[in-house]
Amino acid sequence: MSRQISSLLAIAAVCVTLAPAPAFAQAPKKEPVDCSQVKCLALTFDDGPGQYAGTLLDTLKKYDAKATFFLEGQYAKSRPQFVKRMAAEGHELGNHSYKHPDFTKSSEATIKDEIQKTQDAVKAAAGVEPKLLRPPYGMTDVRVSEIAEQFDMPQILWTAGSKDWSLKNVDAIQKQTLAVAEPNGIILMHDWVKQTVDGMPALIKTLQNKGYHLVTVSDVIKDEKLEPGDAFPLPEGWEQ
Ligand code: NI
Repeated sequence: MSRQISSLLAIAAVCVTLAPAPAFAQAPKKEPVDCSQVKCLALTFDDGPGQYAGTLLDTLKKYDAKATFFLEGQYAKSRPQFVKRMAAEGHELGNHSYKHPDFTKSSEATIKDEIQKTQDAVKAAAGVEPKLLRPPYGMTDVRVSEIAEQFDMPQILWTAGSKDWSLKNVDAIQKQTLAVAEPNGIILMHDWVKQTVDGMPALIKTLQNKGYHLVTVSDVIKDEKLEPGDAFPLPEGWEQ
């Protein structure tokens, strides 16, 4: 390399170094993620807040990951501090009934009571009301859908499960989740499963290394234009 070229390179390097930082470097507010343009995945945690919710929230915060929590009203009531944190730290809150009965085997009055009491418990804890419903066990039918519609909520099921509640093993949960992860997927997990929470730092790192943005359910369903009462993804055998 000639001396002239190398000194030109040196000047270029200085120019790059001195170039003003792009505007977004100073702006603390991040652009919202556009899941039609980038790889998104929604991790969802059911039946909580579970006893390990605090540790999970610490991990999500550390890796700048968002999640959706389908809460049971009874635990929103007994562990309101976690519900408050979830909302404050940018996670999405969903309604998963008060005590987890199978809605397809419950009376209309019971279903309505289960949903309303959970809305009230979450609101009391975090000041916001869930806008998404996940019926217990993902069990729904025409009648449950009509009630969801009356509550102005779509029903959010999942594209795949982590099987964490039966695997109860950090490596197996990670392997299963990575096997079913796909762009705009909605993954079912549980924050009462200790191994799920223990394995979350490694799982998040691996997913992020694969290019996934961990976002809320509302982020991944944005283009689906769901109406209140709709179920998504459609349960097997249901017609569009
Ligand atoms: Ni559940």
